[in-house]
Amino acid sequence: MSTAVAARDALVETSISDFFASHPGLRYVFFGGKGGVGKTVMAGMTAVRLARQGRRVLLASTNPVHSLSGLLGQDVFGRHVPVEGVENLWAYEIDTKDAIERSKHEIREKIQWFLKFAEISTKAEEFVEAATMNPAFEESAMFENMVDLMFKDEYDVYVFDTAPTANARRLLGMSKVYGLWVQKMLKSREEAQSLREALSFTKKKEQDPLMTYLIDFRERIHHARELLTDPAKTAFFFATLPEALPIAVIRRFIDWFTDFGIPVGGVIVNGVISPGKDEELPEFVRNRIAMQEEYLAEIRNRFDGQVRGVLPLYDADIRGIAALEQAAAALFAAPRAASQASG
Ligand SMILES: Nc1ncnc2c1ncn2[C@@H]1O[C@H](COP(=O)(O)OP(=O)(O)O)[C@@H](O)[C@H]1O
Ligand SMILES: [Mg+2]
Repeated sequence: MSTAVAARDALVETSISDFFASHPGLRYVFFGGKGGVGKTVMAGMTAVRLARQGRRVLLASTNPVHSLSGLLGQDVFGRHVPVEGVENLWAYEIDTKDAIERSKHEIREKIQWFLKFAEISTKAEEFVEAATMNPAFEESAMFENMVDLMFKDEYDVYVFDTAPTANARRLLGMSKVYGLWVQKMLKSREEAQSLREALSFTKKKEQDPLMTYLIDFRERIHHARELLTDPAKTAFFFATLPEALPIAVIRRFIDWFTDFGIPVGGVIVNGVISPGKDEELPEFVRNRIAMQEEYLAEIRNRFDGQVRGVLPLYDADIRGIAALEQAAAALFAAPRAASQASG
């Protein structure tokens, strides 16, 4: 009979508790996976658990479709809000619109400056439109926002609901290219500047805002890369259900991340049907259980040694601190072999 406890014993060698214990410097924790697999609830459970251990934790959502306010039963939109009933825990849903507007504003400034510098008399607006209509722009703006949070360094641990998976990968993949590109731009800016200085009568140094921006940009990318690829500080966890599609999704993510040297914390399996002992089960449920067992076997083969926890399917949504803590007890429980070994 498939139950979450049996699945945990079969799948988990190193639990998420063990993982945290062996990574005491962990500061950036991400949850990724297909929609609806439980990323938000797992981020919530982890944040509550870490805060209960006395660490100052920010639970932040970078997802444009927020669900933290619903999860916590508290409005946490647009600002850092202390979570009621949990000391040391703050929650924050990033205001997507605001983040996008700020990014647009920044881009507009750069473009205007550049057009003026190059003495091109075109309206900046067309370029701004072209740069921001692109579908990746929104994602990038959210990513920038997340990086800003990480750099501000106001909390001990940041738990991000919904890993900006495609973005992290893109950013890190591109960071080498960006690095080279910025290097080139800087060189030509330096040349332009020294030429201008040589030609000018006054010897006073001119500020070059584009150069300042490029240097700053390069620093930011470098720093983000440093943090996001440091296995002592960062871990991406991937949530899945014992079903075909969510498994396929996280397999792809894990492969990408491994290729780019982004630390994968492991896999959490959610939604394992766990009937009571003597429960009379309808055929439909028995079929679902049989199906789940096949996928649990697949998970065991594919993610050998990487499964960090298994959660049962509860009979209601996970909402509010009490429900989060109850589920966290299951998520952070040790597998039986480990608990026997440790007495
Ligand atoms: N193990 C579970 N048992 C019962 N309901 C769950 C479980 N895990 C998640 N849910 C519910 O499923 C829905 C989707 O979970 P959520 O964490 O929002 O997924 P995601 O963030 O990956 O889209 C939510 O309503 C949540 O309360
Ligand atoms: Mg979510």
